[in-house]
Amino acid sequence: MKNYNITLLRGDGIGPEIVNEAVKVLDKTADKFGFKVTYTDALLGGCAIDATGVPLPQETIDKCLASDSVLLGAVGGPKWDSQPGSNRPEAGLLGIRGALGLFANLRPAVIFEPLRDASPLRKDIIGDAMDIMIVRELTGGIYFGERGRTDDDGVPAAYDTEKYNVNEIERIGRVAFDMAMKRNKKLTSVDKANVLESSRLWRETMIRLSAEYPEVTLEHLYVDNCAMQLVRNPKQFDVIVTSNIFGDILSDEASMISGSIGMLASASLNSTKLGMYEPIHGSAPDIAGQGIANPLATILSVAMMLRYSLDEPEAADAIEAAAAEVLKTTRTPDIYTEGMKKVSTTEMGDAVCALI
Ligand code: IPM
Ligand code: MG
Repeated sequence: MKNYNITLLRGDGIGPEIVNEAVKVLDKTADKFGFKVTYTDALLGGCAIDATGVPLPQETIDKCLASDSVLLGAVGGPKWDSQPGSNRPEAGLLGIRGALGLFANLRPAVIFEPLRDASPLRKDIIGDAMDIMIVRELTGGIYFGERGRTDDDGVPAAYDTEKYNVNEIERIGRVAFDMAMKRNKKLTSVDKANVLESSRLWRETMIRLSAEYPEVTLEHLYVDNCAMQLVRNPKQFDVIVTSNIFGDILSDEASMISGSIGMLASASLNSTKLGMYEPIHGSAPDIAGQGIANPLATILSVAMMLRYSLDEPEAADAIEAAAAEVLKTTRTPDIYTEGMKKVSTTEMGDAVCALI
């Protein structure tokens, strides 16, 4: 029987609660589809700072590298806000992305039919469905460029650098073109090529790459226009590929449009099969420990893990189908509407398991 080793980074806030439910669901699918899962815990973020003084202990990197895949809850919270920038929980997150080489971040923004009313956009704009895949470059650009403090003739100043080389652009471009081939064959590359030199190289590279994918329609949008188009007509998008910082911003916008922020999963992949999977929402310290967090985004992250890292597509399908089904009747408080059954975090995990 296949046995997969998964590192769990439960993290902070609601992280441990939602990871528990995702593990429950993964174990249930393992039983049903005939594989085994072994778990190892490791520390990342605020809990790592409390236990070891740093947000990303070397031991965590070693454990992740030795596993088949990584499941992350969420990191951060007000408790660690006074940490210096380089020792914040977020620095641990950037550190693990870099250490594992997770250059490709897949952030699907989809609307679940039963949650259609949750979108802040009018129905005629949102249409019957919204299904956008944002492919965000995750280990380059301004997040990892040279930064520092300096002074302009005695006036304190600071700088961050946006830099991409062709290899970095090509490898994220290939992920996006391959993704578009599996979907509706439309790719939108987002940049700021009217101003930024790094964006001009980005655009040239995407155009060159498109020769290898004659079936994919490639279009280019400036990031400001893309932000506008996402609320004007989100239906026009299939796959979006963009830089680290633009992807950070646009993926928040797209997830809000879907109205399903508590539902959305994400995958961060490197050039091997190893990936890190996590909900796109944060650690929600305000509701931590109350048993009311929605575990579905983390559960759906497990589905992405099964699809992209573990080659268990049937198990992934089963989880996605169960999550879609459960929403018809059962809701955590964040997505509760009248007539539905209101459940706790663990009850939601149980309800999904029961449908698998
Ligand atoms: C995200 C988050 C992170 C990012 C923060 C917490 C560093 O906003 O995953 O989108 O900016 O990448
Ligand atoms: Mg973000």
